[in-house]
Amino acid sequence: MKNIVILTGAGISAESGLRTFRAEDGLWEDHPVEEVATPEGFARDPGLVQRFYDERRSGVMAAQPNPAHEALGRLDREFAGELLIVTQNIDDLHERGGANRVLHMHGEALSVWCTACDTRHRWEGTLLDGPPCPSCGQVSMRPDIVWFGEMPYRMNEIFHALSRADLFVSIGTSGAVYPAAGFVQHARENGAHCLELNLEESLGSRMFHETRLGKASELVPAWVGEVLG
Ligand code: APR
Repeated sequence: MKNIVILTGAGISAESGLRTFRAEDGLWEDHPVEEVATPEGFARDPGLVQRFYDERRSGVMAAQPNPAHEALGRLDREFAGELLIVTQNIDDLHERGGANRVLHMHGEALSVWCTACDTRHRWEGTLLDGPPCPSCGQVSMRPDIVWFGEMPYRMNEIFHALSRADLFVSIGTSGAVYPAAGFVQHARENGAHCLELNLEESLGSRMFHETRLGKASELVPAWVGEVLG
């Protein structure tokens, strides 16, 4: 095996205390997507959206990586082949768990984007109070998050990696949202072995050669041990 692409979703950060989206206690239960995760919602009520992501940002900073993140950090350090961790997550737990080859296709909670001068800045504070952009001084920063209806980041790079992968591993995602939900089909059509590690069957489970059900903090370290073993 010389080329691994990993896709992660909210399930890999669940045991770090960060809420997933579609569980019964999921984020979308008390924050309708249309209101907090669309450009229209932001235009309609920017304060509601800024407050929602201010909460996500502080939650991310308070969370700690779990054994699953740390196992992928070990894989990044020790695996001699090509590796790309494509994450749908906006937390930085992969990085704090020791992984470097991470691609945030839905943006990052700790990044903000100035729509006036098109610069991005690492941000640990809040946006609700309307801070000026460090570059242009205008009050025009929004969360650097890919909302529904917007194009995920670096898709060409992702599909290039998927077409070269000999192993595709999906961890902690429900397979409910495209384009990420379609990655397994692309990888499979290009000859990759497809493995799913998830708490429960996902919408895409039938597309995988193998599905292992359980907690990421247990399944991921065991799998990394097999790969490096
Ligand atoms: N270990 C492994 N898997 C888990 C765990 C765990 N401890 N806890 C939950 N899961 C699984 C759930 O079974 C579910 O299949 O993680 C998945 C989480 O699914 P979602 O809540 O839909 O999150 P995700 O798949 O990341 O959503 C994708 O949708 O709303 C958008 O932009 C948002 O990035 C998000 C995208």
